[in-house]
Amino acid sequence: MRVNIRDIQKMKADREPIVMITAYDATSARLSEAAGVPLLLVGDSLGMVIQGHDVPIPVTLDHIIYHAEIVTRVTQKALVVGDMPFLSYNVSVEQALTNAARLMQESHVGAVKMEGGEYLAGTIRRLVEVGIPVMAHIGLQPQSVYKVGGMKVQGRDLDGARQLLRDAEAVEQAGAFAVVVESVPAPLADMITRKLHIPTIGIGAGAGCDGQVQVFHDILGMFEDFTPRHTKQYANVGAIMREAIGEYAREVRERKFPAEENSFTMKDDVLAALSANGDASH
Ligand code: KIV
Repeated sequence: MRVNIRDIQKMKADREPIVMITAYDATSARLSEAAGVPLLLVGDSLGMVIQGHDVPIPVTLDHIIYHAEIVTRVTQKALVVGDMPFLSYNVSVEQALTNAARLMQESHVGAVKMEGGEYLAGTIRRLVEVGIPVMAHIGLQPQSVYKVGGMKVQGRDLDGARQLLRDAEAVEQAGAFAVVVESVPAPLADMITRKLHIPTIGIGAGAGCDGQVQVFHDILGMFEDFTPRHTKQYANVGAIMREAIGEYAREVRERKFPAEENSFTMKDDVLAALSANGDASH
């Protein structure tokens, strides 16, 4: 049985920290599930870490479906959440319903995530009414990066902080089962967490949230020149991979690889027959 949204909500009630990580392919999904992570997010951060863009705007619903189908197919226990990409849910409630249904039916995710607070409450309510579990996403919303003018911390001034509190309450009242709180001052995220009954999953929002989400490639240190403040590198996998690839290239150039143990043999009589027939000569 997979983890479900009630299990995640019970973790808040039991004060058990909730761990979430992004996964985009079979390897990241299998490794994260094997490490015991109960919540996997097929995030539109794949636009940056898989597709090589600077922002998530170019990611389409088809891209998310493609990656989410892989993640659900190779996992057995984790609740897989599929991210609704840029403008795939905010044109109209009907558009959100149609696209969320596609994401669930074609990739088999157990929930969808959507960026937006107070203004998105009506859409969240309708999706939840028809049976689609929604994880909301407030604070920094990377799909609005061009409107905001960069990946900036949100809710630092009084108006911004009050808006965030309203956003948090609105998405809870609309029926979201959890909410991602991104790049928000820790004391404000803490306040939101204590106010809400649903779990808050923080990223750059301090230790007071009910859970934390991080991008797979960030915590593994796969980008050697990119270490945002909100993340921590638990390994230096990028450097290890670069060194291993360099070693492979050196051994090929020096004709040390493949060695005998990496090669296949054939029967002597077959080889002898080939040679006798002249098959091997020019
Ligand atoms: O797209 C993503 O990976 C996200 C998380 C970082 C919260 O939205």
